[in-house]
Amino acid sequence: MNPRRLAMLEEMGLTPVWRLRAAAPVSDAPVTTSDDTPDAREALIARMSWQELSEAVPGCTACSLCKTRKQAVYGVGNAKADWMIIGEAPGAEEDARGEPFVGQAGRLLDNMLAAIGLDRQQHVYIANVLKCRPPGNRNPEAEEIARCAPFLARQVELVQPKLIIAMGRFAAQTLLGSGASIASMRGKRHDYNGVPLIVTYHPAYLLRTLADKARAWEDLCFARATMKELCAAETA
Ligand code: URA
Repeated sequence: MNPRRLAMLEEMGLTPVWRLRAAAPVSDAPVTTSDDTPDAREALIARMSWQELSEAVPGCTACSLCKTRKQAVYGVGNAKADWMIIGEAPGAEEDARGEPFVGQAGRLLDNMLAAIGLDRQQHVYIANVLKCRPPGNRNPEAEEIARCAPFLARQVELVQPKLIIAMGRFAAQTLLGSGASIASMRGKRHDYNGVPLIVTYHPAYLLRTLADKARAWEDLCFARATMKELCAAETA
C-alpha cells in the first residue's frame, strides 16, 4: 500500500490488520486522533476496495469496543450475493470465531435460510451493524453505531445485493433510521441506500418466542416473493 494512504488510514484509526500485527497491541492504540473527523473518515471508507475494507475493519480503533473485543467480525458469504442479511452485533461465539451468526441464533438463521433454499456461503452475504461485540452483549451505543455505520454502508455498496433482510428491531431501526416497532415494519418493502430492505425477527428473539416463528416464516415467504419480483423486473 502506498505510504501516504497508509498514514492517512492510521491517523483515522483504520490501520490495516497486517500493520497492527507488526505493531503495538490494539488495546494500546489511540481510539481517535485529532484529524479523525467523522466526515473525513466516512469519505475515506466510502472509497475503500473490498480488500482495504476487510483489512481496516479488524484494525479499527474508532470506538472503545476495540478494547474489549477478541476480534472484529467483518462478514461472511458470497461477496456478490443477491441476498444480504444484516444482524445487530457479534455475540460471544462470533467474537471468538470472527464470523457472524455462528452461535445458537446463527444455527437458527441457517435453518431459516435453508427453508427458502439459501446457503450461507453460496447465496447470501451476512454482516452486522456493529463489527465488534458490546461487552456482556449490552445494547450498542449511538456513538458505536455512528462509528461503525460507514463500514456497513460500504459493504452494501460493494456487494450490491438485490435485497437486504434486517434481522431484528435494532438492525431494522438503525438501517431505516426509524424508531418504529418491528410489528409495524414487517411485511413492507423499505429502502436502505437504494436497496430494497425487508424486516423480520432476530433469530435470538425467535429462540425465546416460539409463537413468532410462524410470523418469521411469513416474512421469509415475503422475502422470497420480493426477490422473484425484483429478478422479474430486471429481465422485463
Ligand atoms: N446476533 C447478531 O445480531 N449477530 C451475530 O453475528 C450474532 C448474534
